[in-house]
Amino acid sequence: MSSPVVLGIESSCDETGAGLVREGRLLGHAVASSMAEHARFGGVVPEIAARAHIHALTPVVEEALAGAGLRMSDIGAVAVTTGPGLSGALQVGVSGAKGLAYALGVPLYGVHHLAGHVAADTLAHGPLPDPCVVLIVSGGHTSLLLVRDLARDPIVHLGDTLDDAAGECFDKVARVFGLPYPGGPAIDRAARAGNPGAVPFPRPLTGPRDDPYAFSFSGLKTAAARWAESRPAGGLPVADGAASLQEAIADVLTRKAVAACAAYGVGTLVVVGGVAANSRVRALAEQRCAAAGITLRVPPLGLCTDNGAMIAAVGDLLVRAGAEPAPLELSIDPSAPL
Ligand code: KG4
Ligand code: ZN
Repeated sequence: MSSPVVLGIESSCDETGAGLVREGRLLGHAVASSMAEHARFGGVVPEIAARAHIHALTPVVEEALAGAGLRMSDIGAVAVTTGPGLSGALQVGVSGAKGLAYALGVPLYGVHHLAGHVAADTLAHGPLPDPCVVLIVSGGHTSLLLVRDLARDPIVHLGDTLDDAAGECFDKVARVFGLPYPGGPAIDRAARAGNPGAVPFPRPLTGPRDDPYAFSFSGLKTAAARWAESRPAGGLPVADGAASLQEAIADVLTRKAVAACAAYGVGTLVVVGGVAANSRVRALAEQRCAAAGITLRVPPLGLCTDNGAMIAAVGDLLVRAGAEPAPLELSIDPSAPL
C-alpha cells in the first residue's frame, strides 16, 4: 500500500505555510507572509501574526493543493507545527489542522518546528545520512544538532546560543544601521558593496577555553551598535559595517559547525533556517566543508525559511515509520524544548 499524501501546516511565526509531501517527494507548497504588516514595528507583533494566519490558512492550503493538482479529499494525513513559536500564531495552525483532520477522517501529527527545518533538506536532496550534523540558524534559533533517524531517534543538542539567535543579531543590527526589516536580507544586500575586513568585530566564544558548540551574539550586536554610534552623523559606512558583521557571524557559525563534524566523525553538514539563505554563510560553509572533506547540504532558499513543506516532510517520515498519531486534544507547546 502506498503511503498517503501528507498536508503540513506551519504557523509558528509570521509565515503561514502549507505543503504536500508523499514518500519523501514534495508535491506542492504555498506560503503567505505577514512580514510587511510587522515592518513598521521593527519586529513580529504576535497579535498581528495570529490574525494574519486566520486569513491566510485556507487560501494557502488551497493554493498548495492547486499547485500539486490535488483536491482536499486526496489528503491522507495532516501534520502541524505545535512549537516552539508564538502561542496565538501556533493556535491558529493547530486548530485548523485539527478541523481538517477531523473533517477528512485522517490521522493528525504534531511536529516540532526545528525538526521541520532539518527535514526541509530531504525534500531537495533525499534522505539524510545517519548521522549528520545540522546547523539551524534562524531568527529564533541558533543550534548545532546531531541528527540520526528523524522519525525514531531523539535529536541530540550539541550546542545553542546563550543569548540572541544569529538572525536576531542580523535584524537588530540592521535596524541600528538604518536598514529595513527583516534585517538579514538587507545586510546581505548592503554587504555586497562593503569590505568584510573593514571592522574587526569580535568572534564570540571561539577561544580555547570556550564551549566549542555554544554561540553568543548579543556582544556582537552591542559591538556593532557602538561602532555605528562612534561614526560622525551622516557618515556611517553601512556597506563596510554590514560586510564585517556578516563575516563575523558566518565565520563563527561555520567554524563551529565544521569542528562539530570533525569531533563526531560526521561526514555531512546540513545548514537550515532563514540565515542559511545568507550568501556569505553559504560561501564560507562551502569553502570550509570542501577543505575538511565534508559534504555540505543546504536546501534551496524557499525551503530554508519557514514553510509548510518542511512540516509535511516530518509528517511523511512519521507516517512511514508507523508513528502513533496525535489525539484530537493535541495542544500547542510554544516553548517546546528540542
Ligand atoms: O527560519 P526563519 O524564516 O524564521 C524563524 O526565525 O524561524 O528565519 C528568519 C530569519 C530572520 O532573522 C532573517 O533576518 C534571517 O532569517 N534571514 C537572513 C537572510 N534571509 C533571512 N539572514 C541573513 N542573510 C539573509 N540573506
Ligand atoms: Zn523557523
